[in-house]
Amino acid sequence: MESFLYRNGELFAEGVAVSELAERYGTPLYIYSRGHLRSQFQALQSAMAEVNPLICYAVKASSSAAIISTFAELGAGADVVSGGELYRARRAGVSANKIVFAGVGKTESEIEYALKEGILYFTVESEPELERISACAKKLGTVGRIAIRVNPDVDPKTHKYTSTGKKENKFGVNLERAFEAYELAARLPNLELTSLHMHLGSPIMTSDPYSEALAKVKELCLNLKARFPTFRHIDIGGGLGIAYRPTDNPFDLHAFAKAVIPPLKELGLTVSMEPGRFLVGNAGILVTRVQYVKENPFKKFVIVDAAMNDLIRPALYQAYHHIQPVRETTEPLLGDVVGPVCESGDFFAQDREIPAAKQGDLLAVMSAGAYAFAMASNYNSRPLLAEVMVSGTRHELIREREALEDLVRGERTPTW
Ligand code: LLP
Repeated sequence: MESFLYRNGELFAEGVAVSELAERYGTPLYIYSRGHLRSQFQALQSAMAEVNPLICYAVKASSSAAIISTFAELGAGADVVSGGELYRARRAGVSANKIVFAGVGKTESEIEYALKEGILYFTVESEPELERISACAKKLGTVGRIAIRVNPDVDPKTHKYTSTGKKENKFGVNLERAFEAYELAARLPNLELTSLHMHLGSPIMTSDPYSEALAKVKELCLNLKARFPTFRHIDIGGGLGIAYRPTDNPFDLHAFAKAVIPPLKELGLTVSMEPGRFLVGNAGILVTRVQYVKENPFKKFVIVDAAMNDLIRPALYQAYHHIQPVRETTEPLLGDVVGPVCESGDFFAQDREIPAAKQGDLLAVMSAGAYAFAMASNYNSRPLLAEVMVSGTRHELIREREALEDLVRGERTPTW
């Protein structure tokens, strides 16, 4: 994580000492590097320049306004999966005609909202959804642009919870039935068939699943082009991985571009992509303060002030997040790093050699930019954390820490 490096034994976020941010904004705290967000976006854009894709940032990865607007300023679109994400994207300055809307369960009100905004297209996940979009568009006297999400049955070789392009997954329309689904769409009023969409899963560490999927949809794309004059676009989804361990190789963008550009050029379609993790994953860290170091006859526990409600990936996917001391030390400690939540699943590391830490020390949980704050909850009535963005030597709060009153906002006790 090249935006988070040590200077004289102190961890820095770009040009600001992490300890200074922890003092100023309190802990636990999410810190993002704006430079890293920008450089990831630009690296992807330049690697893929030959097909000039519209890069639609997958807002679900990290959805605070300052993050979405950083990408919007660079010309990004947005991939959204709910009315809430559409609202956030529009509010953060993403043009409606660069927004794509996926998700298997779009409601009528979400569809109408998106039609009124004039989004680029809906990524349609089923035949009944085509009918619903058609009916909503007819009601509003408008046209819904459509991409059908094709499930190419390719194994992305990732966690089963985040694998989406296999035939047993709930997403998309099976490749074999896709042409028929387009035929159905063509018979329905107020739809324009413009695109084909696929998203295989997340994170994917090699280009092979993408190559395999592109080969599988090639014939379909060519048939669609020949059959429907409005068909002009392919969306290859997101899923590009990042390094989580210091020993992991970073995602090989060059190899990815080399693998996907030739088949994309052969299709002769315009292109979009929907990366989330690749753009934000290594742009964020979670800084937490050690509250206690506890030993029992079997184990050592470093108990920190962040918990599974702030970053659920280790509990949910047994995901690895590297843990670094904010003040460098070479002394090791073998044990667990755990939070205060009342569940044994509340851990950041288990039986791991981590830097020796004592009460009051700060630790950084690395690679916490994607699916981190965005998946946080108030479980155990813990207020949501503050988020800070750093740019060079500047830093600014981008989300206030919740107060206790926020926890009960909107609650009512029945009058009876
Ligand atoms: N497009 C679609 C249709 C998606 O469903 C997703 C992610 C993306 C794009 C962006 O994928 P990315 O480029 O970020 O890999 N919570 C899990 C990841 C869930 C991904 C859901 N869909 C995690 O923490 O690993």
